[in-house]
Amino acid sequence: MTGSTTVTVRAAAKINLRLGVGAVRPDGFHPLATVYQAIGMYDDVTAADADEWALTVTAHDRIDVSEVPTDDGNIALKAGRLLATHHGLTRAASIRIDKGIPVAGGLAGGSADAAATLLALDRLWDLQTSDEDLLRLAGELGSDVPFALIGGTARGDGRGEIVKLVEDNGSWWWVVVESDEGLSTPRIYATFDELNPDGVSDPEIDAALLDALRTGDATALAASLRNDLQAPALHVRPALGDVLRLGEEAGALSGIVSGSGPTCVFLCASRPAADAVREAFIDAGHTRVQAAPGPVAGAHEVSF
Ligand code: C5P
Repeated sequence: MTGSTTVTVRAAAKINLRLGVGAVRPDGFHPLATVYQAIGMYDDVTAADADEWALTVTAHDRIDVSEVPTDDGNIALKAGRLLATHHGLTRAASIRIDKGIPVAGGLAGGSADAAATLLALDRLWDLQTSDEDLLRLAGELGSDVPFALIGGTARGDGRGEIVKLVEDNGSWWWVVVESDEGLSTPRIYATFDELNPDGVSDPEIDAALLDALRTGDATALAASLRNDLQAPALHVRPALGDVLRLGEEAGALSGIVSGSGPTCVFLCASRPAADAVREAFIDAGHTRVQAAPGPVAGAHEVSF
């Protein structure tokens, strides 16, 4: 990495407590009514001035980064270029991503990297980009990128990019069970279309879900978790059904496929309950399992 100054920004994984999907739009996207939550699994993005755009990717032990593009197709580089263009700048940066969020897992790791890059370069170059502009640029980069900026627990509308925080008084514990092989988000949306040839009604957020968040009632939240992409994810990867059953048998309040999968997340009544569910998965031979709290903060600068 060239240049003496670096800025590191940390961004969290997201899960969808509710992912309501409508009929595909003319632009190919699906209208969503979703509730996101940021959970305690992170990617760190470090930016430094450079003569040319450059990207390196490192990862925590258990994460396979072989599928992450390191060329211009990487969403972090797109984010960097977009921010520079927005400000009329011709400067470039080197970007290092240290991944703690699984790749193609339904946890929006790429979106976290894009959000973190926007913020890191804004700080590195002292651009003072307004929150409004950052959110708009984030929305251009991907449906989940604005949420990665704000974190916490938020409602997402449009194609997911119109975000608004919701009241969440809970301290939730999740067990996150990864799969060895990722799933492609466009493929899962296409399977959703195939499974619903007659269309679907407009998606909505149940009042019961928002009440559960407000009151911090884990049993009520468990009863409200719902993902319209779960059926297509199970269609493409039937073995996820066994994962969901195992977590619930091990004492989780409820399990759900995260986003477009294949990661499954399990809401647990407490941290000790989450530890017990995690142990059950490890005993059953799953290696990539961890407990994570939620909600956590959106993209933020950290010192190194
Ligand atoms: O916005 P993002 O780049 O994350 O979307 C990736 C792909 O997921 C899109 O190209 C589209 O196929 C699908 N998608 C969708 N409807 C959404 C969000 C994503 O169909 N609301």
